Amino acid sequence: MLVALEGIDGSGKTTVARKLAAELRRRGHRVRLTREPTPTWLGRAVRRGIRSGVDPLALACLFLADRATHVGTWSRAPRGEVVITDRYRDSTSAYQAVALRGRVEDPLRFFSTLQDRWFPAPDLAFLLDVPVRVGLARIRGRTVREPFEKIRFLAGVRRNYLRLAREGRLIVLDADRPPEQVAKDAAERIQKRLGPRPRSK
Ligand code: TYD
Repeated sequence: MLVALEGIDGSGKTTVARKLAAELRRRGHRVRLTREPTPTWLGRAVRRGIRSGVDPLALACLFLADRATHVGTWSRAPRGEVVITDRYRDSTSAYQAVALRGRVEDPLRFFSTLQDRWFPAPDLAFLLDVPVRVGLARIRGRTVREPFEKIRFLAGVRRNYLRLAREGRLIVLDADRPPEQVAKDAAERIQKRLGPRPRSK
């Protein structure tokens, strides 16, 4: 089973992913935790692209290239294993749709349709939803001194995520709460989907 965690910067995905993995293991499930950008040369190329402010279309291609190799690492995961990925397809749909506004027609639709063809759909995808200022305050500490551009960018990303949620692609979890609670909510949903665990003989 593939579970994706999505959200804007500072939504707490990474902390929740760790707690969620621990909770599921406690319940007896086999869990593999993974993330994008990946810790491979393609993931490093992505990070370098971000740092150097490479052309947004080139950056979109790097994210997709990184994902293409990432999918190969878990697509043959044993049955019953829960693969949790910190970011997946909807990150590209939500972020690159803002970055490429005006260069691609209806970019959100473009990236979600493209990826429906290329990459397997997650069994469950969660949006850890927080207001932009809450997310930024978590990253930067109490005072948010981000440039207006960055705030506007992330507000666009959040709007895109919420649109994807309205289309039924993401389950919204209120992430303006302690990460333990968010992880517990996600664990409940996953447990429900997995059904009762067969007793080991
Ligand atoms: P992030 O998961 O926030 O990594 P870290 O917190 O370790 O730096 O990802 C880095 C940035 O890349 C983040 O701002 C989201 C962005 N991103 C995209 O724009 N598109 C994508 O497809 C992915 C996976 C990430």
